[in-house]
Amino acid sequence: MARLDPHSYADDTQPRTASLDWKASVDFGAHVVRAELTLRFAKPAAGGSLDLDTRGLDITALVGPGGAALEYTLHDADPILGSRLEIAVPAGAESILIRYVTSPEASALQWLTPEQTLGKKHPYLFSQCQAIHARSILPCQDTPSIRQTFVASLDVPAELRAVMAAATQGREIQGDRAIERFAMPQPIPPYLFAFAVGDLASKDLSPRSRVWTEPAQLEAAAWEFAQVEDHLRAAESLFGPYDWERFDLLVMPPSFPYGGMENPRLTFLTPSLLAGDRSLVNVVAHELAHSWTGNLVTSSNAEHFWLNEGFTVFAERRILEVLEGAEMAALHAAIGFERLQQAFAQHADHPELTKLRTELTGIDPDEAFSQVPYEKGYLFLKALEAAAGEKAFDALLSTWLGTYRFGAATTDDFLALVERVIPGLLAKVDAPAWVDGPGLPASHWRPESARLAAVQKVAGRVPTRAETKDWSPTEWQLYLEGMPKPSPLAVCEELDATYSLTASKNPEVLVSWLVLACESGYAPVLPSATELLGHIGRMKYLKPIFKALAGRAETKALAHELFERFRTGYHPIAQQMLRGVLR
Ligand code: BES
Ligand code: ZN
Repeated sequence: MARLDPHSYADDTQPRTASLDWKASVDFGAHVVRAELTLRFAKPAAGGSLDLDTRGLDITALVGPGGAALEYTLHDADPILGSRLEIAVPAGAESILIRYVTSPEASALQWLTPEQTLGKKHPYLFSQCQAIHARSILPCQDTPSIRQTFVASLDVPAELRAVMAAATQGREIQGDRAIERFAMPQPIPPYLFAFAVGDLASKDLSPRSRVWTEPAQLEAAAWEFAQVEDHLRAAESLFGPYDWERFDLLVMPPSFPYGGMENPRLTFLTPSLLAGDRSLVNVVAHELAHSWTGNLVTSSNAEHFWLNEGFTVFAERRILEVLEGAEMAALHAAIGFERLQQAFAQHADHPELTKLRTELTGIDPDEAFSQVPYEKGYLFLKALEAAAGEKAFDALLSTWLGTYRFGAATTDDFLALVERVIPGLLAKVDAPAWVDGPGLPASHWRPESARLAAVQKVAGRVPTRAETKDWSPTEWQLYLEGMPKPSPLAVCEELDATYSLTASKNPEVLVSWLVLACESGYAPVLPSATELLGHIGRMKYLKPIFKALAGRAETKALAHELFERFRTGYHPIAQQMLRGVLR
């Protein structure tokens, strides 16, 4: 037996799933999905055990070839991995069928009441499978190293729409229910399995892209993301043809725990991107970039997560450079650098988690999540690019994408490829210090630009109106992120009085300000912080604000009280994360 992944029971001596057929019925009353899943193997089974990942699933039937019931054991749950479902698969079996019901507490799912939606009339359901939550909606080999195609049908109330990160195959009304069919012809890792059900409408943005969301914010969403085709063209010019046919967007309910999730063909986005000024579209560029880095070439397991996110941040900033110019890309890189320093400070007790390659046996990947794989990964690639030259590095990237397309790769695979394509490059940048050393090597690339220098000039003090008159939200964010925390109350008062930061409509600026203000004990922001925590479930915003409140004696009780008040509106993944923060 050989496990493929510290976060999966999948075993490389056992049959490999090649495709899925998922028929699911969504029960909004009981908060469960009842499903029938056929797993088809890459080749007929040799006979013996098959271990699948599950979490909280109630298995009702397991059927083999010819309709025979199969023997199985559902092992006791591991707190991180869930329950191993061990199935006795007869020799020659090409597929098996499993009937099961999900738990109302399924970690991938959030069930929203009508009150938690924009329209207030209909319930809503959505999934978030990354990192290891797919197993809470379907028994599977839940490791990115195993890809599968699928067909699916979702049986939902007829007044609702179901969407999936897959190609749409049609909708059929049966009484008060609708059956919606989907197909995913490109093989994907299980963490990219995704769907949503709700009162959804769509609007075309280009021949290969449309945006979906609740009707009340459809126009706002279509305006914010109108330039998506420009993103696609820029990305294709950099990384080669887009392989997933469509690039649709789904603007989620506010409780969506991430900024964006790169579900193939249908990127999920937080509604907090609807700032009304198109200032946050770098998240779209990021999720689009995953179509190459992550979805086409996937890190084999969470220990190599930087191959997904570091490469994607690199690709995101290249796209941004094409669309908004080098100055904007540099500002984003500088914000990233600031966040990386904050992540290093937070991990002061766990320097091993600041390595690019991590060891995560016994560690929940959601707990290990940080900016390190994103921003340190980005800086490592910038170091390689600087040493190789941009042209040579672009060629290397395209060899990387070509070699592992629709496959999975490890850090060693990347290092070996670099050494083969540009011998000596790894030694030149001291790759071992980047990959297996904590923190940052002594010498590293730094963004440089005139706009960046202008922000750096006022670092740590209150800037004058003349100095800020041309600032975009990105400059404000960078300035606020770089302020000492805590800062003197007088500085907070002057900033707020001069620039009305507490009334900022841009969520990135507002959150950077609220964090600075809360860490400084500037009480006038508390109503605004409370309002934000009650309306948005994006973890990137919740985490630093709760941390700032919990970190000061006078607001500690408030942090706990707000968590209790708003908890049920947060996604299970966000609740779990916040329990850790408040512990
Ligand atoms: N794939 C991630 C989100 C994710 C990571 C979900 C790990 C679950 C586990 C996504 O591509 C992402 O990185 N989103 C960022 C966008 C940002 C870097 C532009 C986010 O949500 O903030
Ligand atoms: Zn990402």
